[in-house]
Amino acid sequence: MQRLLILNGPNLNLLGTRQPEVYGSVTLPMIEENCRKHAQEIGVGVAFEQSNHEGVLIDAIHNAKGNADGIILNAGAYTHTSVALHDALASVDLPAVELHLSNVHAREEFRRVSYISKVVVGQICGFGASGYTLAMDALSGYLSEKDLL
Ligand code: DQA
Repeated sequence: MQRLLILNGPNLNLLGTRQPEVYGSVTLPMIEENCRKHAQEIGVGVAFEQSNHEGVLIDAIHNAKGNADGIILNAGAYTHTSVALHDALASVDLPAVELHLSNVHAREEFRRVSYISKVVVGQICGFGASGYTLAMDALSGYLSEKDLL
């Protein structure tokens, strides 16, 4: 069974009350529950984590090696700043999907810069909370195709 790690970065614990006009009113626990339900539907295993701390996110990426087949990462603002997250993803060599609830390309200029885009399979952004299940389908499909190669 494919094992997906869904990793959430800073301030995403505040989803639901944080700028709902940008991020919607769905909370992170609701997203987690939906991802777990979706995991059962598509037959994959899922681990779901959130941290406000860059080093904890890096440790989680390291820990994914051997424990997960792929990573879905909403790195929050660290997307736009963190060489360390880029290096962590490059080091574990696991397929990853970059995820954002908002359309980062339609917002402030600084959000158009991503330090992690170079080391992911692809990016999903702008679909709100449903981006999580879209990312699960995308990563699971990628992993299945990879097995055929
Ligand atoms: C975000 C977009 C980032 O620019 C922002 O810093 C976040 C959330 C998103 O999911 O839309 O914290 O990753």
